[in-house]
Amino acid sequence: MDRTMARATTAELESDSDGAGLVATGITKSYRRGMWPRRRELAVLRGADFEVGAGEVVGLVGENGSGKSTLMKILVGALAADSGTISVIGRMGYCPQEPVLYDRLTCEEHLELFGVAYGMDEAAVAEAADNLYATLGFERWRTTRAEELSGGTRSKLNLAVALLADPEVLLLDEPYAGFDFDTYERFWDLTAERRAAGRSVVVISHFITDQARFDRIVELRDGLTVSR
Ligand SMILES: Nc1ncnc2c1ncn2[C@@H]1O[C@H](COP(=O)(O)OP(=O)(O)O)[C@@H](O)[C@H]1O
Ligand SMILES: [Mg+2]
Repeated sequence: MDRTMARATTAELESDSDGAGLVATGITKSYRRGMWPRRRELAVLRGADFEVGAGEVVGLVGENGSGKSTLMKILVGALAADSGTISVIGRMGYCPQEPVLYDRLTCEEHLELFGVAYGMDEAAVAEAADNLYATLGFERWRTTRAEELSGGTRSKLNLAVALLADPEVLLLDEPYAGFDFDTYERFWDLTAERRAAGRSVVVISHFITDQARFDRIVELRDGLTVSR
């Protein structure tokens, strides 16, 4: 991962926020498209600011192609911005729009693998995994390989991986696109629990039907964020 941007230390940020959170300012990003001599630059982000505080659930909306996923990838450090600064307090969990899963591994093996990556011990992984299987309702797919899972169950596993280490700042890119209504409801219960525990949650969606579930909704338009 290429992280070229400055990150404030925990101490620096804690003075103006109580605990976890994320602050991004002036984020710009252009993609290069096509080949010489027809090369064009597509300016997707033109100085976007974004912020989420402790115990806050923020929705990030915008038309298809407005740059929501680009901004989120930059926030988690999976993509380098052209300019701008990002400060994060606490651990981040990220749920990409396209599940990044290993076809040959089972659900259990995914959680074990990511548990090691997060530096968790075996008992902590087992406890968190049991909880996630129960909450999201995919216990019976524990030992099934990812390649054999339905789209909905893949989304659950994708979300479970992001939640595993109980991150202070959780960023979810269209997390409920493949969920049935029950899972959708459970997803919001989970989010409410996190908010109550002072965690931060950012949810990208191209449509928001349940405005009341969010503390704030921010729209990405013409490369800038505007409050809605
Ligand atoms: N890797 C890339 N290379 C070139 N263009 C890209 C790349 N990723 C995204 N884009 C373009 O940038 C724009 C924003 O994409 P994206 O951030 O995925 O938007 P959203 O998530 O809001 O639908 C789109 O026009 C998309 O085609
Ligand atoms: Mg997207």
